[in-house]
Amino acid sequence: MNISPLQEARYKYEPKLPEILKNAVDAIKVSLGDPTQSVADQEELKQLFPNTYGMPVAGFTKGENPRAGKAINVGVILSGGQAPGGHNVIAGLYDGLKKGNKNSKLIGFLGGPSGLTSDEALEFSDEYMDRYRNTGGFDIIGSGRTKLETEEQFDTCIEVCKKRNISALVIIGGDDSNTNAAVLAEYFQQKKASIQVIGVPKTIDGDLKNEHIETSFGFDTATKTYSELIGNIERDANSAKKYWHFIKLMGRSASHIALECALQTRPNVAIISEEVEEKKQTLDQVVGNIIDTIVTRAEKGENFGVVLVPEGLIEFIPEMKTLIGELNDLLAEHQAYYATLNTFEDQSEWINKNLSRESSYVFSSLPNNIQRQLLMDRDPHGNVQVSRIETEKLLIEIIEDRLREMKTEGRYSGKFSHQHHFFGYEGRCAFPSNFDADYCYSLGFNAFVLIANGLTGYMSSVKNLSKPASEWIAGGIPVTMMMNLEQRHGKKKPVIRKALVELDGKPFKAFAAERETWAVETSFAYPGAIQYYGPDEVCNQPTMTLKIEHK
Ligand code: FBP
Repeated sequence: MNISPLQEARYKYEPKLPEILKNAVDAIKVSLGDPTQSVADQEELKQLFPNTYGMPVAGFTKGENPRAGKAINVGVILSGGQAPGGHNVIAGLYDGLKKGNKNSKLIGFLGGPSGLTSDEALEFSDEYMDRYRNTGGFDIIGSGRTKLETEEQFDTCIEVCKKRNISALVIIGGDDSNTNAAVLAEYFQQKKASIQVIGVPKTIDGDLKNEHIETSFGFDTATKTYSELIGNIERDANSAKKYWHFIKLMGRSASHIALECALQTRPNVAIISEEVEEKKQTLDQVVGNIIDTIVTRAEKGENFGVVLVPEGLIEFIPEMKTLIGELNDLLAEHQAYYATLNTFEDQSEWINKNLSRESSYVFSSLPNNIQRQLLMDRDPHGNVQVSRIETEKLLIEIIEDRLREMKTEGRYSGKFSHQHHFFGYEGRCAFPSNFDADYCYSLGFNAFVLIANGLTGYMSSVKNLSKPASEWIAGGIPVTMMMNLEQRHGKKKPVIRKALVELDGKPFKAFAAERETWAVETSFAYPGAIQYYGPDEVCNQPTMTLKIEHK
């Protein structure tokens, strides 16, 4: 491995821990609160999780825990998309485990959940672990999107764990993977398999959050990386004064990334999907709002600007949402038949015949490339792969047509030259910011403390994150507490409720209070690159979302 000077320097970085986790691991005791309830569908979830529903929130206090010194084997899995800091979760888990007993072993399953069912794994050593500390990426053991959902898979998990003498599994993943972790924990309890399961909240999307999980890891670094790039583009736009830049940002359904980047960079337009849905804005209206800004700026001679587009936008435009819903159900119900249709023409003809009249009209009016993208394979959780739908290009195409018309009608006299970008993969494996390096290490270490206290079906939780790490609060949240029932693959399934941008939340309000000025004035802000060394105000700040939410 070629080691860059920054990587070399980051090896020496010592992640900060919450005060309670600095104690000897056998001197940290769990303290349990009152029984909990799921966020909705309580009766149904109680039936589905008879052993793990209603468990109390766990906190830690100083006190004896002799169990922590026992030598154990723990398995760890990285699941889903990469997020900066995953390596530090494993480092924290490894260090906690070894602090408990140096004979304990950490087994990393390779390539995501499929590594567990196929029993492909490596055992971590000090030397191997040290090569990955404070680095980005998931290459330490790889990740994957296989879903663990069948009893057959669960039984294989039990067999593999028994064979390797593993008594606890740590699943590092997003809402779907943590849902699977909860299902697995319940199954292991039912089968009296004596294997604990702990989840860790990962995803750059920032949509795995609630009262107890203030943010998922990776969101901080990813948004700082995108904001650096957006700021650079804004400065380029303001220098050359000749392009409108349309920037699609990852984040799946939620617009947390777009909102955070908007707060950091003050673009002319930032679309928030949740607002589009709430106001039932059609594609026409979304485009109309952008055009208003383009025209107003053109009247001031400013034929340039920056528009942020959340990648999930298309799913929130009412007519598109209905269309995607119908497509999802059709593709799930007629999977076998659909697979026999080999050409795009055959597929779209069959689709058009089976869609409702309204959706068929919407589908037919879309450009060919977007139609194809809407028909692409779903991910293993049944979601449309929004990162592959070129919404930014769709918007540009429609805007260009409209402005052309307006020009001939004498309603617009500007010049619309455009560029498009998609930022997603650029931020998922960046060196974790100090925040993510500390947060992830704490989450991993904390996962071990939860295991050492005999808990299962919990998510590792570290709170009070807008304060310095010494004031962070470590604990565990029963995963069932975050669940409700949702329609997936045409069936009601228990899932962790996704946290979308709340329009009455403080971050959105802060953005809404300023956006009209940003639209017309050039108010760009240039955050620059993530700083790992230097004064606190440049290298140890959490996201603006966290700061505003917890002010
Ligand atoms: P997770 O939800 O698994 O963390 O993934 C997040 C994400 O980066 C989304 O923002 C994006 O839509 C998706 O992954 C892209 O998936 P893939 O890596 O499979 O292309």
